[in-house]
Amino acid sequence: MSFPVQRPRRLRKTQLLRDLVRETRLSPYSLIYPLFVCAGSSVRQEVGSMPGVFQQSADHILEDCREVESLGIPGVILFGLPESKDARGSSSLAQNGVVQRAIEAIRKAKLNLLVITDVCLCEYTDHGHCGVIEDGEVANDPTLEILAEQALSHARAGADIVAPSDMMDGRVGAIRKKLDHNDFSDVPILAYAAKYCSGFYGPFREAADSVPQFGDRRSYQMDPANTREALKEVALDLEEGADMVMVKPALPYLDIVRRVKDEFRVPVAAYNVSGEYSMVKAAAKNGWLDERRVVLEILTGIQRAGADFILTYHAKDAARWLK
Ligand code: PBG
Repeated sequence: MSFPVQRPRRLRKTQLLRDLVRETRLSPYSLIYPLFVCAGSSVRQEVGSMPGVFQQSADHILEDCREVESLGIPGVILFGLPESKDARGSSSLAQNGVVQRAIEAIRKAKLNLLVITDVCLCEYTDHGHCGVIEDGEVANDPTLEILAEQALSHARAGADIVAPSDMMDGRVGAIRKKLDHNDFSDVPILAYAAKYCSGFYGPFREAADSVPQFGDRRSYQMDPANTREALKEVALDLEEGADMVMVKPALPYLDIVRRVKDEFRVPVAAYNVSGEYSMVKAAAKNGWLDERRVVLEILTGIQRAGADFILTYHAKDAARWLK
């Protein structure tokens, strides 16, 4: 049957009808808000390329967390800006490190919030790479123990979920083993499984002060042209013990989100990354786009593609708009 019997416009006539037949329902419950924590107190420095995003000391992070909780957003992901950096990213393991202390502060405040931690070296190494350097190259196996120790220190501080973003081979297994041997077998791993080598991380590297001092991340992050490789990465991370997997960035990789969702029976996250955020902010500031409208459209699109939850800098605004 077709026109004139079929008239799809009938179901688009009123808001109530459209609400009734809507297939994707965005809610604050499926958003995670990223936070950049630095040392000291009373620090709140806006990131130039990310209006509305701040580098903050733990006291301000706590304020943000209270707001996030009150908006019905279930969790935050923490990135650290350490006081000192070295070749091995040692400050990432310190029990009194920036992230570790922020987790403890959030725990102490007894907020009803999931605390996720980004596990990686790039914010903590003086060369800005996600692993240790040997013979001028990012060395895989020597990096694994450091990542595992870092994840353990986050769990000890009270993290609910650890999220390795380094893209070293075998890191999920190394982290799982370390957590299990130290009585943290109940701490889940959210693996940045299909993480592409993307130009959209540009503003984040300013926010996290993690610009590589030489070369780029092509030897460990994925080629944007590949799909099968993403499925392989996801399969490997799950074999190694990942509980949830992430696709990153989100917008240029919605096909990957859908493929992962269809092929694996685990929760799929998508990271709506810094560059995706900054583009919207810049266009909105110029009056070229309606920010509220496009943000809700973008997040709906990511969810429709198959994401169970979305890490996004728009989380607080979106939650407010969805109320
Ligand atoms: C750390 C990490 C990065 C992002 C999350 N974790 C940057 C990178 O790989 O260079 C990017 C997040 C964003 O752009 O919002 N490895």
